[in-house]
Amino acid sequence: MNIDFKKLADKYQTPFYLYDFDHITAQYTELKESFRARKSLIAYAVKANSNLSVIKHLSNLGAGADCVSIGEVKRALKAGVPTYKIIFSGVGKSDEEIKEALILDILLINVESSAELDRVEELAKSLNKVARISIRVNPNIDPKTHPYISTGLHENKFGVDIDTAKRMYIKCKNSEHLEPTGIHCHIGSQLTQLEPIRESINIVANLVRNLKAIKIELSFMDVGGGLGIVYKDETLINTYDYAQTILDSLFGLDLTIICEPGRFIVGNSGIFVTKVLYEKINGNKRFVIVDGAMNDLIRPALYDAYHRVEVLNNNKNLSDCNLVGPVCESGDFFAKNIDLPETQSGDLITIYSAGAYGFTMSSNYNTRARVAEIAIENGNDRLIRKRESFEDLIANEIEFL
Ligand code: LLP
Repeated sequence: MNIDFKKLADKYQTPFYLYDFDHITAQYTELKESFRARKSLIAYAVKANSNLSVIKHLSNLGAGADCVSIGEVKRALKAGVPTYKIIFSGVGKSDEEIKEALILDILLINVESSAELDRVEELAKSLNKVARISIRVNPNIDPKTHPYISTGLHENKFGVDIDTAKRMYIKCKNSEHLEPTGIHCHIGSQLTQLEPIRESINIVANLVRNLKAIKIELSFMDVGGGLGIVYKDETLINTYDYAQTILDSLFGLDLTIICEPGRFIVGNSGIFVTKVLYEKINGNKRFVIVDGAMNDLIRPALYDAYHRVEVLNNNKNLSDCNLVGPVCESGDFFAKNIDLPETQSGDLITIYSAGAYGFTMSSNYNTRARVAEIAIENGNDRLIRKRESFEDLIANEIEFL
C-alpha cells in the first residue's frame, strides 16, 4: 500500500503507531480459511495489540478473544466480542478475576494448575455456577524460539504435565461445579518450525483419546497461538500446512479447533513512525537520535529483536550508526550497527513489524506520554487512540500536601 507518511506525520505529529486494517483482515481470513474443513474459532490474542478498534475490527470478522487478565476480557466485551467467544488464560488468576469470568459466563477458563482448579471449583460453588474448564497441558516440547517466549517446556511456568492434566479432568468429571470442556496447549511464540507443533498436538490428542476412553468427552481443542512472522528473512510455516498438521492429529475426534494467534494477525500490520531529532558522533560512533524510544517499542531492548528500519525518501551516503531514542538508558535503541543515510532533523523513520507487542508493552518511563495510534483502512486514516497528555500521566497521583 502507498502510505503518505509525511501527511500523516503533519496531521498527527510523531511518534505514532500506524495499523493497516486491511492487512489484519487478510491475515485473519487466511488463517480462518486454512481451517475450513472443521469448525474453528480464531480467538485473537488480545495481548498482542489490545486497542479497542483493533479488537472490534477482528470481532466484526468473526474472531473471538484470548485474554490473560480480566482487563483484557473487559476490553474484548467492550469491543463487541460475544461472551461465548472469549477465553481466559494465565497462570495466576486472582479470585476476583475468576469470579468475574464465572459471572460473565465466558466460553472457557483455561486452568494452569491443580491449585487453580480447586479455587475455580470453590468459587463456582459459592456462586452456584458450573465452570467450563479447559486445562493447559505443558507437553515438554522445545519450540525452538527465543527463550523468553518459549512456554512449552517443563522448565517454563505454564500449564501442567499430562498425568496431572488427566487427574484434573477426572476431578472435573466428579465435580458438580466443573465441566471438562476443552484442552489447551501453547508452546511458544514466533514459531517458525512445524515439527514441535506436530509433536505437541499429537501428545495432547492422545490425552483426548485417553479421556474419551474413560467417558470424559471434550468439545474444544485449543492449539494456542505462536505462528511466526517475517521480521527479517525468516522462513515461515505455511498456514495451510499448519492447519493440516492439526487436522491430521485430530483424526477421529469431533472437536472444534480454537487457535489463538496474536503476532500473526497484527505483527506486520503495524509500523512505528518516528522522526529524527539530531545526529551526533561520539569518538567514531555515529548515533541517529529520534523522538520515539524504548518506552514506546521495547522489543529491541528486551529481546534484542530485529525490526527493519527505513529513512523515508533518503538513501544517500549510507554509513554505520545506532538508532536511539531520548530515554536515559544505554539499552534505549531500535537498531545497532545498521547502515542509515545521512539524516536531517525532521526526517521520518519507519520501524516495521511493530503491530504486535509494540504499543501493548509500552510504558510511561521517563514520564513520556504514550504515543497516538492510527488506523488506515481502504486508504483512509483515523485516530484510534490519542496521544497521552501530561495530565493523563499524573491523573492517578494523590496530591501531596
Ligand atoms: N496464547 C497464549 C497462551 C500465549 O501465551 C500467547 C503469547 C499467545 C496465545 C499469542 O502468541 P502469538 O500468536 O502472538 O505468538 N512479548 C513477546 C511475546 C510474548 C508472547 C506471550 N504469549 C514478544 O514481543 O515477542
